[in-house]
Amino acid sequence: MAQRSRPAGSRRVQVLVLCFLAHVATGVELSVNNHNDDFTLITSLGSLISLSCLAQNSSQPEELLWYRGDSRVDLKDGNKENVSNICISPVSESDNGVAFTCRLVRDQAVQVSVLLDVRFPPSAGEDESIQIEEGKDVTLICNAKSNPQGQTTWYKNNAILTLKDHYQVYHTSEVFQLSITEVQESDNGTYTCEVKSSCGDSSKNFHLIVEDRKPVIPIEAIIAAAVVVALTVLFGIVAQKEKIFKVKMEREAAGHEALHGE
Ligand SMILES: *[C@@H]1O[C@H](CO)[C@@H](O)[C@H](O)[C@H]1NC(C)=O
Ligand SMILES: *[C@@H]1O[C@H](CO)[C@@H](O)[C@H](O)[C@H]1NC(C)=O
Ligand SMILES: *[C@@H]1O[C@H](CO)[C@@H](O)[C@H](O)[C@H]1NC(C)=O
Repeated sequence: MAQRSRPAGSRRVQVLVLCFLAHVATGVELSVNNHNDDFTLITSLGSLISLSCLAQNSSQPEELLWYRGDSRVDLKDGNKENVSNICISPVSESDNGVAFTCRLVRDQAVQVSVLLDVRFPPSAGEDESIQIEEGKDVTLICNAKSNPQGQTTWYKNNAILTLKDHYQVYHTSEVFQLSITEVQESDNGTYTCEVKSSCGDSSKNFHLIVEDRKPVIPIEAIIAAAVVVALTVLFGIVAQKEKIFKVKMEREAAGHEALHGE
């Protein structure tokens, strides 16, 4: 009676009971590299990891599945029944924090996950040379990625950078950057970002060369203007000459006529 009055609740109970029964019924235990429970595997960049999933205590052949995160891993036919091995080689930065999960096809609730913790040292980046005009803004960017995460410091000419009003430091797990607004002559120098982690250190130099403000009127415009003026004057002279020449010719012609007239 009570069940009939709460059908949704009773259905849920039935589902739970069925799940429980399925577990009991399969009685199968999975293990990955001899772990029956989820575990974290610490590894380093470029290494090779072999994961072996084993179905134990089954009375029948058991098909296995592997997932990388949410996507199925393609397995060869002979690599699915009772035992399934996958190899991750070489381990890359993108494998960090990714879970590899082995599941039973018959009951996908039966699973064991391996979380990869890929250790890698920081790599701040190649040195840079930056020429910047006084008064402009500039941002110096370093790659701050490392696992475990590193300690970061900015230096100017090998001394720890004293933050000024027009300096802004921005720091995430991905980048470490310094922004300078309205660069001044005194900002000229070598800036170094340093990332220190237990797996190694890395630093990157920025040679910031502050240049004088450029004149407001560009030199090209001055040259163009000068050329225009020169040409105008030249044409003016030529025109003038032609006029003088014409007058001279007319005068000479008149002279001739006068001569003939005599
Ligand atoms: C596997 O089966 C054996 C014998 O049938 C039993 O003693 C053991 O507890 C089972 N192990 C698991 C993990 O179910
Ligand atoms: C998998 O295990 C089952 C039950 O123990 C067995 O009958 C079957 O032959 C095994 N398959 C392989 C490929 O080992
Ligand atoms: C500006 O900084 C650069 C890079 O560190 C350096 O080579 C140069 O000598 C500096 N110039 C002046 C005027 O300080």
